Amino acid sequence: MSATAEISDNIATKTTPKVAGLPLIGNTLDMAKDPAKFFVDCYRKHGPVFKINILGKPYKVMGGVEAATFMGTREGKECLRSKEFWQGLVKEFDAHLALPGADGDDHKEMREILRHGYSKDAIKGRYNQLLKITDGSIERDWKPGTKVPVLQAFQFMVTDQLGTILTGSAPLEYVEDIRVTILNILNVLVTRQRPRFLLLNPAYRKAKQRVFELGDKMRAEYLANPDARSEENRNLIDDIMQANLNGSHIMPDHNLRLQLVAPYVAGLDTVANTTAAITYTVLKNPDVLARIHAEVDALFADGDIDEAGLMKKIPVLQAAIMETMRLYPIAVAQMRCANKDFVFEGHQFHEGEMIYIATCVPHFMEELYPDPYTFDVDRYEKPRAEHRQTGAYSPYGRGPHTCLGKSLAEVQLALTMARLFYRLDLSLESPDYQLKTKTAPTPGPAMSYKLKVNGYRN
Ligand code: HEM
Repeated sequence: MSATAEISDNIATKTTPKVAGLPLIGNTLDMAKDPAKFFVDCYRKHGPVFKINILGKPYKVMGGVEAATFMGTREGKECLRSKEFWQGLVKEFDAHLALPGADGDDHKEMREILRHGYSKDAIKGRYNQLLKITDGSIERDWKPGTKVPVLQAFQFMVTDQLGTILTGSAPLEYVEDIRVTILNILNVLVTRQRPRFLLLNPAYRKAKQRVFELGDKMRAEYLANPDARSEENRNLIDDIMQANLNGSHIMPDHNLRLQLVAPYVAGLDTVANTTAAITYTVLKNPDVLARIHAEVDALFADGDIDEAGLMKKIPVLQAAIMETMRLYPIAVAQMRCANKDFVFEGHQFHEGEMIYIATCVPHFMEELYPDPYTFDVDRYEKPRAEHRQTGAYSPYGRGPHTCLGKSLAEVQLALTMARLFYRLDLSLESPDYQLKTKTAPTPGPAMSYKLKVNGYRN
């Protein structure tokens, strides 16, 4: 195995091993149980390329540092495309293009239109506003003396935050509809881990109609008052609608519903699962919680916070977030299609083949992270800086589709967790509680995961 990807347009020298599985369903159960463990085990046994079968469909997997490195290379960009995996979502919305499923020039153009609205700029000057939204959610859904269903509470909080910051309003009455729609679309149409008939379920169809209604409402509100926000306060909705009104071929009318609700599709489950996982890892490690309490008590000592240098003031919390995202990545693999015939690490890939790129396999390799299953917030400081090794750390993906909301998500995660740990005295249901996880649609804590709110700290 080499540390960097070997790629050649020439001759395949290796036969790609097939991972043993059950008749008909192949490796579906292993994937449904723990995809990260499944990919790591297969990588150890078979090397960086192997074949699997999910619900009767063949896939190739490329994993490890080799695959993570390959994603960022020119060859990786040329050899892989995304379209097929997101076509189902696009069709379901009667749209023609979604950012994660766009390739080449269309992808570049669309990313450019959306870049500002999804970036850290969208939240500049508004950190204290985000904290107020977080306080509102804490007071509404995290009452002292109760046991809080963590994932659900964060889903409401994140919708409130993203709605207000990115689009100007928080559609809390649509949270359940957004959740049901995303869950079904990701499970059935994108990751294809569940059968198609689930989309006939009346509960899903009703939720999808409500999400369409939300998109239509957002469009109508913009059109009723297109100059509502100053140039300085321009948000994602302004950028999308302006591109539409300027006649961009990327943003025709029939693409608007999907684009306008996309921040929820992209941000709700990713952030909610990550924040829920952070509560578990931190509360399970009281020494880390004590270090975080010291940081956040100092951060909020003077009331409103100063945006400059925020991250430097909370290094342990930052490391706890990074370490949680290493151990509980929301995207264990990125899904792509072979854009042409090519050879990677001696294995032949054919145009049109479906590929899982298991970029998070390195997160669990002891060669990169000694004692990889131990939660260790001190891995990230120099001289250790274990995440800085080539291909070692990819929670936000790799290559041209790397998370567009990364810089925004980093601020959102830091402020949300800082405020939650500052305001609340929380504990696990019992000190020996072991987190139950789910894998679909987004890997993370199970919906049944609850925390005890013992009272307010501040
Ligand atoms: C914990 C937080 C988050 C994580 C771990 C995360 C992770 C990811 C990953 C792994 C991808 C790449 C998917 C692929 O290549 O197939 C991605 C793409 C994307 N993410 Fe995030 N994400 C997070 C939060 C957010 C937020 C808050 C937003 C914005 C509201 C956002 C917007 C996007 C967009 C627009 C894309 C598509 C980029 C493209 O295709 O060019 N993400 N994210």
